[in-house]
Amino acid sequence: MLWGQFRDASSEWKGTCTMAKLIYMAITSLDGYVADTDGNFDWAMPDDEVFTFVNDFERPIGTYLYGRRLYELMIGWETAHTIPDQSPLMLDFAKIWQSADKIVYSRTLESVSSARTRIEREFDPEVVRQMKATAGRDITVGGPDLAAQALKVGLVDECHLLVSPIVVGGGKPSLPDNVRLQLELLGERRFGNGVVHLSYRTGT
Ligand SMILES: NC(=O)c1ccc[n+]([C@@H]2O[C@H](COP(=O)([O-])OP(=O)(O)OC[C@H]3O[C@@H](n4cnc5c(N)ncnc54)[C@H](OP(=O)(O)O)[C@@H]3O)[C@@H](O)[C@H]2O)c1
Repeated sequence: MLWGQFRDASSEWKGTCTMAKLIYMAITSLDGYVADTDGNFDWAMPDDEVFTFVNDFERPIGTYLYGRRLYELMIGWETAHTIPDQSPLMLDFAKIWQSADKIVYSRTLESVSSARTRIEREFDPEVVRQMKATAGRDITVGGPDLAAQALKVGLVDECHLLVSPIVVGGGKPSLPDNVRLQLELLGERRFGNGVVHLSYRTGT
């Protein structure tokens, strides 16, 4: 649980506890794809301003729930600090990534090569619900295939989309078909390179 404090009418501080949030974040094209029909997402690479935002976004997250495909793309961050001439932003992200816990969902992966990582063979919504109730920090879920399952069972509390100024015409959708969600806009931010961050609360 995440513990906070509030002051009641008698001016006494009282403890409160809330569930950790499950957050889906994706860098997407304007037409809603995280990768184009060739599987490319070089157009989604953040510039320094967006990278700084992503680092600050990820910093408080305690656990990443990964589909096996996204995990395999992210694993390089485990050793990124050993590569010479990395930028301060990359080193910062590597440190953030390494200090979070990771759960990788896969029926095929035999082992993992990052610390603080375990494999789950099934996505069990009840287990994730329990995780949200007991986690000390918020949790993220990705890529889109795994996130779709969490969205479909109503586990995702917030969606954060970094919309890149490009239409790619097809590919891997950032959001699944056959899911209807009423959303509350929490915030928006425009970046110098034309990316827009949109954040939404689900289930309003
Ligand atoms: N726009 C960007 O900035 C950006 C950044 C990174 C990646 N991407 C794109 O995102 C893609 C990754 O997302 P994705 O949606 O394709 O895949 P994903 O959600 O990361 O991973 C899918 C895999 O997770 C495992 N999985 C899913 N549901 C499961 C369940 N219920 N139980 C057990 N295992 C389960 C399966 O692994 P097994 O096959 O091992 O069973 C499945 O093949 C990348 O390939 C890339 O194209 C885009």
